[in-house]
Amino acid sequence: MFYTDGQLQYKVRVDSPNPLFAKHLQQAIGGVEGEIRVAMQYLFQAWSFRGPKRYKDLLLQTGTEELAHIEMLCHAVALNLEGSKEAVKEGVAAKSPIMQAMLGGMMPRQYLSSGMGALPVDADGMAFDMSNVYASGNAGADMYANVAAEATGRTLATRLYNLTDDPGMKDMLAFLIARDTMHQQQWLAVIEEIGGVNALPIPDSFPSDQENQDFNYTFLSTSTPDGPPPPEGRWSTGPSLDGRGQFSSEPARPLGGEPILPSPPPESMNQTAQIQSGGHGSPQLGSERPEQKGGGMLETVKDSMLEKAKDKLS
Ligand SMILES: [Fe+2]
Repeated sequence: MFYTDGQLQYKVRVDSPNPLFAKHLQQAIGGVEGEIRVAMQYLFQAWSFRGPKRYKDLLLQTGTEELAHIEMLCHAVALNLEGSKEAVKEGVAAKSPIMQAMLGGMMPRQYLSSGMGALPVDADGMAFDMSNVYASGNAGADMYANVAAEATGRTLATRLYNLTDDPGMKDMLAFLIARDTMHQQQWLAVIEEIGGVNALPIPDSFPSDQENQDFNYTFLSTSTPDGPPPPEGRWSTGPSLDGRGQFSSEPARPLGGEPILPSPPPESMNQTAQIQSGGHGSPQLGSERPEQKGGGMLETVKDSMLEKAKDKLS
């Protein structure tokens, strides 16, 4: 259940309203680095979390705090739009260059669609895309995604901090920047608790002997022979970070041959030239169905569905 006490988490004050800054603040609301993203990401991770309850609670409570950050930023946008009231009243034909500048700087939909308020969009007016929300169910993968979300969020907040001279806005952003610091730290602390580098590679529950042992710790350079040399660093020599292998570096080679698809069947309604292109098959596709190697659950499900369908038809 969710509650609100109707209060802002931290004070939001605008000393000199600036519609252009209202537009920029939209990035911290509906941008990929913004507060909607982290709020939804932590809440969806929490709602599906399986494992130690304290991690679920950490996600749930931080996701809820992020809702409070959306609220603060929406209030900041609305206060900054107070500066455009007069400009809107005067209309586009206003003689004053200041009015024109304000109208030019303002995001039109903040007036047209919300009557001088924030929208769930980024600084370019693009609606927040929920597919930017990562919630894999794997605590390791999600915590790294959360650190990245806080890192990009803090980078954005510091850019906004540098863009404004307004003392009230600087004070609000200094608070949000500090919260991003703590959130980076807490997600890193979870990573440390669940094993840190010893829990790599993610997922650590996959039997490592089932992955190709020739490629798991080798940097493959895709530079041409005439191109730049392979980049060298911690990733190219010495023990791997998880301690399970040795880093090396070698040129990537085409090991798979040319990808060839069979010519299309007549019922595909492709062009005649395509259909009559030789009736060839593909060396990458067995003419017979490959023998089941085991472990493929989807194949088993498919076989069972086919059997059921056959029974119904007979
Ligand atoms: Fe936040």
